[in-house]
Amino acid sequence: MAARPLIVGNWKMNGCRKKLAELNAIESHAATASAEVWMALPATLVGLAAIGARNITIGGQDVHFADAGAYTGSISAAMLREAGACFTLVGHSERRVGHGETGAVIRAKVDAAWRHGLDVVLCVGETAEQRNAGTGKETVAAQIRAAAGGPIAGGLAIAYEPVWCIGAPTAATPEQVAAMHQVIRGTLGALHGEAGVAVRLLYGGAVDPQSAPAILLAAEVDGVLAGRASLEVPAFCALINVASEIAA
Ligand code: PGA
Repeated sequence: MAARPLIVGNWKMNGCRKKLAELNAIESHAATASAEVWMALPATLVGLAAIGARNITIGGQDVHFADAGAYTGSISAAMLREAGACFTLVGHSERRVGHGETGAVIRAKVDAAWRHGLDVVLCVGETAEQRNAGTGKETVAAQIRAAAGGPIAGGLAIAYEPVWCIGAPTAATPEQVAAMHQVIRGTLGALHGEAGVAVRLLYGGAVDPQSAPAILLAAEVDGVLAGRASLEVPAFCALINVASEIAA
């Protein structure tokens, strides 16, 4: 595991301005943590949250591949950056699967983010059907090749998020996570050699303070990405504590 684990919270489509009080509580807690804390917020909160952020890093949840144009409802990397975001999620399955995003589209989004100085948390993961058919590892390797095959021109972390764990009652086992992280690491190594080794690998999908310790201790795990557990201050602070204790 990296010396300083990375804990990423994803609020998804939750949170109006009132919820920024909770973000302040997370911010205060993060000041004393030995984990790095990143928050992927609804676009409407990014600018407001970025103003006061000292101990947490603010980011978006998705970005368009174009810099500008007739794309109603979308947000560009330049817009996110100007609002104060430092990173963005790309390829979350609620976009990748839910909106039918191809590998080429996801690669173009990664490039757009890097063009405008945003780090990328690239989400990859297989569906239950793919896993059951025995094609899970190849699916994830192909997602990495499509999204991260070209030059690495900016900050990159990769979150393994099996679609069958997102929103599910339980997370993948540490063994399942370690096995897929090995596939991801191998794919990155084949593509980028040493540069691939520097990419941080996270796990996401039903992470909570109970499941996190064993996952964080699994081989090749540098951090976690939490959805539901990031929405409640006590749970998220407990997650930060767990990571800090492991790092200590
Ligand atoms: P979950 O979501 O932690 O609520 O399962 C994770 C994610 O979608 O990133």
